[in-house]
Amino acid sequence: MKIITKPELQNLAIKYGVSYHETLLLLAHILKTEYSRLFFEKSYEISEDDYKNLHLFLSRRNEGEPISKILEKKEFYGFSFKTTKDTLDPRPETELLIDLFKKYHLYNSQNLQILDLGAGTGCIGITLLKLFSNTVCCFADISEKALSITRENATMHQVLDRSEFVLSDWFKNIHRNFDVIISNPPYVAANYELDRATLYDPKIALFAGSDGMDAYRSILPSASKYLKPAGLLLLEIGYDQAEKIKQISSDLKLLRMEKDLAGIRRACIFRLF
Ligand SMILES: C[S@@+](CC[C@H](N)C(=O)[O-])C[C@H]1O[C@@H](n2cnc3c(N)ncnc32)[C@H](O)[C@@H]1O
Repeated sequence: MKIITKPELQNLAIKYGVSYHETLLLLAHILKTEYSRLFFEKSYEISEDDYKNLHLFLSRRNEGEPISKILEKKEFYGFSFKTTKDTLDPRPETELLIDLFKKYHLYNSQNLQILDLGAGTGCIGITLLKLFSNTVCCFADISEKALSITRENATMHQVLDRSEFVLSDWFKNIHRNFDVIISNPPYVAANYELDRATLYDPKIALFAGSDGMDAYRSILPSASKYLKPAGLLLLEIGYDQAEKIKQISSDLKLLRMEKDLAGIRRACIFRLF
C-alpha cells in the first residue's frame, strides 16, 4: 500500500495534462468509491496495482481517449449507462428525442410498444422505460456486442422485465408492429473528418454511406409496415440533413422537426395516418 497526498495527486494530474477533476474521477473509479468522498480527503491510500492503473488511465486520457470510455460509463437524461468500445457514447443531443417523445406520447395507453432501432447502450429505450411505466421496449441492433451492453444496462436499470432484444439489420428480424419506433441511426458521411474523441466510438455506429443518409433510406420507406395505426417514428438527424430527409419517400407524414439549443433541426417526428 502507498499513500498519495492531495498535492502529489495534483502534480500527477499536471504531469499527464489531465484536469484534477478528471484525475479524481479516475481515482474514485479505481478505488471503487465516491468522487465526493475523495474530494474532501487530504491523502489517499492506494495499492501498488491500483497506482499502476491510475498511471495507465491517465496516460490513456492524455492520448485523447474520452473519460467515458475509460470509466465505461456516461450520463444520459440523468441516468448512467455502461458504454464500451462496442457502443456509441450517449450524446446530449439525443436527449431531444426523449423530449419529443414526451410531447407526443400517449399517456393513457397501456403497454405502449416501443422499438429502439440501433439501440447501442440502450440509452433511449431504457430512459423511456424508466420515465414511463406504461411502456415496453424492443431493442434492436446489428451488433451482437452492442446488444449485450444494451441488456446489461437494462438489467442495471431494472427494466429487463419490460425489455426484448433482437439482433437485426434494421427491420429484418422484426415481425410485429409498434406504437413508437425511435432511432438515432448512424448519419455521418463516409469522408467526414471526425474529432479525436469520436474515433473511440465504433464505426458502425457512426457512418452511413457517402452522404450519411444510408440508414434513413433503409428505415423511412419501411417504417410504416412496423407501425400500428397512428404510430410514430422519431429520428435523430445530422446538423445538415433536415432537407435531405424530406426527399426520402415514405408513407408517413412529417409532423414536426425539433431544433436543438443551437437552433439546428436535430430530430423529426413522423406519423402513420
Ligand atoms: C448512432 S448509434 C446510436 C446508439 C444509441 N441508440 C444512442 O442513441 O446512443 C447507432 C446504432 O445503430 C446500430 N446499427 C448500425 N447499423 C445498423 C443496422 N443496419 N441495423 C441495426 N442497427 C444498426 C449501431 O450498432 C449503433 O449501435
